[in-house]
Amino acid sequence: MPFSVVVLAAGKGTRMKSSLPKVLHPIAGKPMVQHIIDTVNSLGASNIHLVYGHGGEQLQQQLSHNTLSWCLQAEQLGTGHAVMQAVDKIQDDEDVLIVVGDAPLIKPSTLQQLIDVKSDADLALLTVKLDDPTGMGRIIRDGDQVMAIVEHKDATEAQRQIREINTGMMIMGGADLKRWLNNLTNNNAQGEYYLTDVIEMAANENKVIHASHPSSAVEVEGINNRVQLANIERAYQKEQVESLMMKGISMIDPARFDLRGDIEVGQDSSFDVNCIVEGKVVVGSNVEVGANCILRDCEIGDNVVIEANSIIEQAIVGDHCTVGPYARLRPGAVMKEKAKVGNFVEMKKTVLGKGSKANHLTYLGDTEVGENANIGAGTITCNYDGVNKFKTSIGDGAFIGSNSSLVAPAVIGKGATVGAGSIINKEVPDGELAVARAKQRNIQGWERPTKK
Ligand code: UD1
Ligand code: CA
Repeated sequence: MPFSVVVLAAGKGTRMKSSLPKVLHPIAGKPMVQHIIDTVNSLGASNIHLVYGHGGEQLQQQLSHNTLSWCLQAEQLGTGHAVMQAVDKIQDDEDVLIVVGDAPLIKPSTLQQLIDVKSDADLALLTVKLDDPTGMGRIIRDGDQVMAIVEHKDATEAQRQIREINTGMMIMGGADLKRWLNNLTNNNAQGEYYLTDVIEMAANENKVIHASHPSSAVEVEGINNRVQLANIERAYQKEQVESLMMKGISMIDPARFDLRGDIEVGQDSSFDVNCIVEGKVVVGSNVEVGANCILRDCEIGDNVVIEANSIIEQAIVGDHCTVGPYARLRPGAVMKEKAKVGNFVEMKKTVLGKGSKANHLTYLGDTEVGENANIGAGTITCNYDGVNKFKTSIGDGAFIGSNSSLVAPAVIGKGATVGAGSIINKEVPDGELAVARAKQRNIQGWERPTKK
């Protein structure tokens, strides 16, 4: 049965105390509502109707890469009223899955199970038992049969003892939904059009109502404030990191590793504490990542050592390389096999050839370095004249003495040597030594000034 989805996301999220709409607050670097959109897309939803109210412009901007049908709920008159904003776009002969926009951890398998349960029923409801159900809609049953949902504020003292609650997620046929929505009233404690009233209407029509349950309550936990946001972030990170460890990755402290994106890792690689992985990252086997490293949209080969406090972004690190500590590989940095980059070295749009080294205090930008070259401490490629960028090329086996400036465009030949402290602004031919600095003068009899 084809199904479309209604995502309820019009609530203001007052308790976030934020100018950002609540559903755009990120979990693992991604807006919480985007997690839900990705989840329902993975189940093959034919349409996603997003009911929004506040921050429409921000929502449309941040969610622009999705195919969504936008339904404005100008005034928030309740969850039933929210769904009414999408009815024009709903077909009679499709199922409609309703989800809330602020419970990002809902699993595809849980929603799939709800959809499966609906196939033998007229309406399926996702419910869960909570130790403290305060504030939630309670599931009223007669024996096993679901009869109604009563909101906390409308519930009797006896009903408030019920621990089984409505998660806000449910699925039913389009025609039924439309008929029931038409009959909603706002005759209740909150003066709202409650979506939950459709359950009693279904029961009164002797419709078959089934309930299914998430594997854990955290999946359906809603986020209303920044404390809950942080708690859900932790729960999500814990789940991700445990799945990585089960695939053979070591984490010195799983509570101090954050994945905000996707990582693919070979076996026996390890992360020390406080590492952050963002975007799309591929890490090979036997890679050691030291403490406090950030890997963003990068590719790391096998048997690589990344020492503490290194930042690697949109860069490629080949097999058997070593990086850091305190190295920064910026976009377009490529280290070929067995290359080494040491402390306080920055590379941008630069290829460091096989076995080449830049071990200390260096900036290489727009540079091509051949194989087995040695870039001495404090080498700077002067790639920018304030307006344009220029390239530097350093041949195989070249040796750049410490504290040299290579003024681009610069060409250092194969096997060439640059004397320490040189400022190079002419080509250095293959195999030659270039020394470009003032000659040393020793002044005999010179005396230091004395204090007057
Ligand atoms: C709702 C349910 C309750 C359930 C709880 C689970 C109703 C009447 N109650 O209660 O049974 O236990 O969720 O969290 O459905 N929203 C709109 N427009 C509105 C009102 C709400 O889009 O006019 C959206 C909110 O942004 C939110 C979701 O609907 O994503 C739930 O709204 P909320 O106000 O949190 O509902 P509750 O009163 O908590
Ligand atoms: Ca809620």
